[in-house]
Amino acid sequence: MPWTSEEMSDQTGRTVLVTGANSGLGLETTRAFLQKGATVIMGCRSISRAQSAIDGFLKKIDKGNISLLEIDLGDLTKVASAAENIMDKYGHLDLLINNAGVMAPPYTLSKQGFEIQFAVNHLGHMALTIKLLPILERKVGARIVTVSSGAQFMGQIDWEDMQGKKRYDRWRAYSQSKLANVMFALELDDRLKTNKSMVSSLVAHPGLARTNLQLRSIKANNSWQEGLAYKFIQPLFQGARMGSLPQLFAATDPSAKGGQQYGPRFNFRGYPKLCNSAASALKKDQRKRFWELSEELIGMSFK
Ligand SMILES: NC(=O)c1ccc[n+]([C@@H]2O[C@H](COP(=O)([O-])OP(=O)(O)OC[C@H]3O[C@@H](n4cnc5c(N)ncnc54)[C@H](OP(=O)(O)O)[C@@H]3O)[C@@H](O)[C@H]2O)c1
Repeated sequence: MPWTSEEMSDQTGRTVLVTGANSGLGLETTRAFLQKGATVIMGCRSISRAQSAIDGFLKKIDKGNISLLEIDLGDLTKVASAAENIMDKYGHLDLLINNAGVMAPPYTLSKQGFEIQFAVNHLGHMALTIKLLPILERKVGARIVTVSSGAQFMGQIDWEDMQGKKRYDRWRAYSQSKLANVMFALELDDRLKTNKSMVSSLVAHPGLARTNLQLRSIKANNSWQEGLAYKFIQPLFQGARMGSLPQLFAATDPSAKGGQQYGPRFNFRGYPKLCNSAASALKKDQRKRFWELSEELIGMSFK
């Protein structure tokens, strides 16, 4: 029996933070949680884009509660102040969905001078998660779901040139950031278990889903070749609603456990199932090294 968001249990009384909630998978995730009665904090870098999503896509939903949080994951100072706003306002959190992402843009630096995909997809989410752990710890069964990609399997950590300063290949950098998501999430789960925490960390990947991610990449690179390539592979893509199922499953299903990854049944598409993580994310020594290096970059630590 295929799993859909209808199978999610009632989420009334639960508080969920979704990053990148105004578009694509984040917006579908928001919709699903609202329909099950949750309070969803929409973490978005543009409040006006979040408001448009509320006035449009989310307009007909009369369940749950929405709260807006301005957060730019490409600026660690803004990540810290966004996390503080949440801690002050809520004091607890049941679920954190590290979903926001950027794919294959031209070489760009974040506010603190990191390559933008590494900064937004990995460092910003790592900093947000570490900051919010104390309020996740207050809820029994709290979960953190980090959204990766099939690109994790092509990803390599470039220890010599992680920020692409010597040579920038936008797809390599995307794959590196998505492998980083998995290494981060698995290492976090190990550390939480060592600390006997009740919080767990899981990974999800959507396969191929029609969202704004591809359009933005084509536009930012002004690449007609890429536009054409996407047209050819369109039949492989599923809708954003299907693409959001692995992260919803990882966040809510009682069978999903810390350290696991969920993705579509047929890798690119299909209903969610337990799946493997990239082999390089399973190497504990590499993960530890990567964690410690990331801690240095964000200026925060969690043992
Ligand atoms: N769609 C796919 O086929 C696919 C495949 C594999 C993995 N993924 C992953 O799925 C996740 C969601 O992507 P999507 O497909 O839903 O793409 P999307 O429709 O482009 O949504 C991306 C979201 O991330 C937000 N975002 C980007 N940069 C940000 C920043 N600096 N600070 C805060 N938010 C930022 C965007 O906000 P703005 O609207 O303000 O730009 C948007 O809300 C990403 O992590 C992506 O890597 C997607």
